[in-house]
Amino acid sequence: MSDELKVLYSIQLILKETGYFDVSRISKEILDFSKKEGIDLEKILKRIQKNEPWEYIRGSTDFLGYPFIVNRNVLIPRTETEQLVTIAKGFLDENNSCTHIIDVGTGSGCIIISLAKILCGRNKYKFLGIEDNKSALEVARKNSALHKVNEKVSLIKQNLLSGTKIEEDTLIIANLPYVPKYLYNGLDKSVKDYEPKRAIVGGTDGLKYYKKLLKQVSNKNHLGRKVTLLIEIEPSTIGNLVNLLENKDFKIIKDFRGRERFLLISLP
Ligand SMILES: C[S@@+](CC[C@H](N)C(=O)[O-])C[C@H]1O[C@@H](n2cnc3c(N)ncnc32)[C@H](O)[C@@H]1O
Repeated sequence: MSDELKVLYSIQLILKETGYFDVSRISKEILDFSKKEGIDLEKILKRIQKNEPWEYIRGSTDFLGYPFIVNRNVLIPRTETEQLVTIAKGFLDENNSCTHIIDVGTGSGCIIISLAKILCGRNKYKFLGIEDNKSALEVARKNSALHKVNEKVSLIKQNLLSGTKIEEDTLIIANLPYVPKYLYNGLDKSVKDYEPKRAIVGGTDGLKYYKKLLKQVSNKNHLGRKVTLLIEIEPSTIGNLVNLLENKDFKIIKDFRGRERFLLISLP
């Protein structure tokens, strides 16, 4: 066995012990990163053993094939959220009148920036990302510059939709903190010890932010515009949210694991 293979094998053992699945890919990434950045491999592996996510150590992640800068101020984008973007794209393909796309709780900016990239051939769209945390917004701005969409995508610091007027047909996408308080303690150590809690917990029932957002959209849409809300949600709380939708049209969409993860709601 070559020296490099021996090293890769030892990294893979550590990754397996720490609970990683995709150990061949990540072990190669770790080795390449250590060489390229001149960082001692031992130091990286110590951080891995302490459950620090590889994405934070490397400072980037992959989202729909695009690199995104991440640090401990933002949630590491999840695979489910890639599906959320794919659903949004499908909706926009079928709804030509929609010209405005808003991403509420933008974090790293992965949703709005990847949509701006995917839809780059269509000039009619206005893209807006909203985030209430200054440090997270800085990461989104870096990603916007990285992907050269700063002129297309506005990124603002704001509490949900508080200062935004809805004047055109709009798709509002939201992946807001949605884990109920009682489920938080059961999450992985890597999540609880490293990812920002304010990006994860959505109050006692997980619906704190979605309830506020629904209220804001209903109050703001005085002009009767066609507004569609597409959200990612904790599957066990979806029934409680649906109970609040009264006579609104909505569709539940399952994630790739077969769990009811997304809601597409027509408003008002
Ligand atoms: C679950 S993370 C999602 C981040 C990113 N959109 C993604 O999908 O990976 C939720 C984000 O919403 C932000 N957030 C929480 N409360 C907010 C509020 N009232 N207004 C705007 N953003 C908020 C958090 O700071 C966090 O960045």
